[in-house]
Amino acid sequence: MTTTPTTPLTPSLIATLPGRHYTDPDLFRQEQERIFESLWFCAVRAADLDKPGAFRTVQIGRESVVVTRNRAGELRAFLNICRHRGARLCLESVGEVRRSLQCPYHAWTYDLDGKLIAAPNLASLTDIDRSAYGLRPVHLREWLGYGWLCLADEPPSFEETVIGAAVERLGDVAAIDRYGVAGLALGKRITYDVQANWKLIVENFMECYHCATIHPELTDVLPEFADGLAAQYYVGHGAAFGAEVKGFTVDGSAGFGRLDGIDEEQDRRYYAITVKPTVFVNLVPDHVILHRMFPLGPDRTVVECDWLYAPEVVASGADLSGSVELFHRVNSQDFDACERTQPAMSSRAYRDGGVLVPSEHHIGKFHRWVREQITEPGTDSALSPPPSPGACTSVSP
Ligand code: FES
Ligand code: FE
Repeated sequence: MTTTPTTPLTPSLIATLPGRHYTDPDLFRQEQERIFESLWFCAVRAADLDKPGAFRTVQIGRESVVVTRNRAGELRAFLNICRHRGARLCLESVGEVRRSLQCPYHAWTYDLDGKLIAAPNLASLTDIDRSAYGLRPVHLREWLGYGWLCLADEPPSFEETVIGAAVERLGDVAAIDRYGVAGLALGKRITYDVQANWKLIVENFMECYHCATIHPELTDVLPEFADGLAAQYYVGHGAAFGAEVKGFTVDGSAGFGRLDGIDEEQDRRYYAITVKPTVFVNLVPDHVILHRMFPLGPDRTVVECDWLYAPEVVASGADLSGSVELFHRVNSQDFDACERTQPAMSSRAYRDGGVLVPSEHHIGKFHRWVREQITEPGTDSALSPPPSPGACTSVSP
């Protein structure tokens, strides 16, 4: 039996970020450079690149990146920029080539490992070392069946910054390994174009204060999430299904068989993990829901949400709509709330920010993390440390 935590009584309210952190193009540019272009960024589902030559292009911060699979079957990622005069190499977001990537401008041609293999008239330039003009590689790791990219020259520790998020939430890496996420099959993907800053989406995902208000279907399945102040505790420690609930579906009806490997403790529970900056992983006994965000502007974020099931479930043609519909509604309810909040970020009413109630206090840690990434001493007063916790205790919610 899980014990509900006690909630500290003071300070009851702490400050959020000021509104400009959600609207200011300069702050967003700093986030692009120091967060999305500096940390590990979950870019593609590896199985989407199902054969050599399949490619996807993704926007990471200010850079376009092409991810492909080489002849040996390994994922490769490169800046989507031709080394000749800088034309964008792949123009489509999804595509397939036979053996090479050819620039549409002057036809410089690169193999699937990024090596320059042909260019008009280049053979006559005997002083040119072709190996110096390959595509610029991007660091790539595979985890959970996704390609995680890092544009930094020296990436931070993947184990600490990515896998560490799951360990922090679940206690150890074995707990997520048991879901076998990399071996699951894609049952459904929905792409949401959300007119809101990426941090509003993260903050919303990190709290459950809103669950009782906007997620009636979710709280029917997970009654603990309707428990206002304590709900947050269950987000991290596994929220139990209601006694009458048969599965994680929109009406609580039965889902599919438990994934091989998960243990009794994980059965009939929902776990949520935020992997900063842009990934949410949702674990339930018979499927996994993984969100990848692509922040495209201060007020626009594209979210790709994948529903992943045991391969035999997808192959059988089973009706997935009951489980897909549950989280599709949750997504829609959440993103609607974020879109309702975004316009207020530029209001004078939110110039100094708002407040977090105790069950949202952990979001203050996220805010501190964001400020640490973008702080440049002496450049912007908006980046000064947040008010001390006591500073807002006199403000009414
Ligand atoms: Fe690509 Fe010239 S810019 S071949
Ligand atoms: Fe929600």
